[in-house]
Amino acid sequence: MKIIVTGGAGMIGSHCAEHFAKKKHDVLVLDNLLRSSIFGSKSKSVEYNWRYLEKIPKVKLLRKDICDRDEMMRVFKREAPDLVIHTAGQPGVKYSLEHPLEDYEINATGTINVLEALRKVNKKGMFILTSTNKVYGNNVNHVALKAWPKRYTFKSIKGIDERFSIDLTGHTPYGVSKLTGDLYTQDYAQIFDLKSAIFRMSCIYGTRQFGFEDQGWLAWFAIRFLQNKPVTIYGDGRQVRDVLWVDDLIKAFEAFTSRDFRYKGEVFNIGGSYKNTISLLELIEILEKTSGRKIQIQYGPWRQFDQKVYISDITKAQKLLHWKPTVSPKEGVKRLYQWVEQNRALFRQ
Ligand SMILES: NC(=O)c1ccc[n+]([C@@H]2O[C@H](COP(=O)([O-])OP(=O)(O)OC[C@H]3O[C@@H](n4cnc5c(N)ncnc54)[C@H](O)[C@@H]3O)[C@@H](O)[C@H]2O)c1
Repeated sequence: MKIIVTGGAGMIGSHCAEHFAKKKHDVLVLDNLLRSSIFGSKSKSVEYNWRYLEKIPKVKLLRKDICDRDEMMRVFKREAPDLVIHTAGQPGVKYSLEHPLEDYEINATGTINVLEALRKVNKKGMFILTSTNKVYGNNVNHVALKAWPKRYTFKSIKGIDERFSIDLTGHTPYGVSKLTGDLYTQDYAQIFDLKSAIFRMSCIYGTRQFGFEDQGWLAWFAIRFLQNKPVTIYGDGRQVRDVLWVDDLIKAFEAFTSRDFRYKGEVFNIGGSYKNTISLLELIEILEKTSGRKIQIQYGPWRQFDQKVYISDITKAQKLLHWKPTVSPKEGVKRLYQWVEQNRALFRQ
């Protein structure tokens, strides 16, 4: 297959590019390396992934902006991809609150630019969107919770499924811009018959993740442990996410691309599910054990519209994609910390 991975220098994109290239597909990575400027770090971010991918056979790199519609059209005409994995995006809530227009331009307009380019050059092309649990916004905070000493859980449901309401709630601009791309992707399947899938992801983590306080919290905590520097917890630390190791996510993407998979425009809530949940306090415990050190923990006020608990109900993905997560948070966090440790030069300050 000819595959375009937008945002291919990012954490999820770079793993997709490597995975499919190793399976002998031709992969073109499109990225403008914006992540570094958003989160204020030049060499310690996606530039590393860019250089990493340069060495992988069957990966081509092209520095392009998905917001440039004409350029996208030119590239897509030249490449005529069979599959597009659209991971390019502005992933930070804080950035979206400070720069709502830029956030919209990248996540909403950028997504329709890519969808449109694919539809024009290959009607039989496949499209994967990396959407987010944030499309459910603050509605998630109306689900009754149960409090435990180190975590919250939902009181009477195991997780949030795809029928959960996206309406009448606070989303943050990030939630809205991602939802816009999500709805366009659904609509392109309905109206133009494009084979697409929308993955509403909870918390994805893995190696080559350059976490910052505003995005990529597992990696951010691992880096701070390595640096022996304090972290701030907003809230009481009992907030919970279902976490999914990036290789498991890619297996779900791959299942969608199989010839037997006939559904179009399906939405999948995807994460580690109830079995693979972790709270901030539990993450700290694992990192203390793994690193053999304790760092200073500071506490700040809850952030507006932060979901206290988010756990994906993955029943639909399990059923339609014949898929399930395989890496536990304990194992994944260990792997992540080891990667950070092996690359300590990147995180020296
Ligand atoms: N990591 C998660 O837990 C998570 C959860 C839910 C949704 N998502 C979504 O998944 C996608 C990938 O996430 P990630 O963790 O790999 O983030 P990432 O920041 O590591 O990757 C995004 C990539 O997109 C690139 N990019 C940004 N704007 C661009 C533009 N205008 N043109 C071309 N490239 C551009 C960035 O430079 C970066 O390399 C994002 O869209 C994010 O919203 C991620």
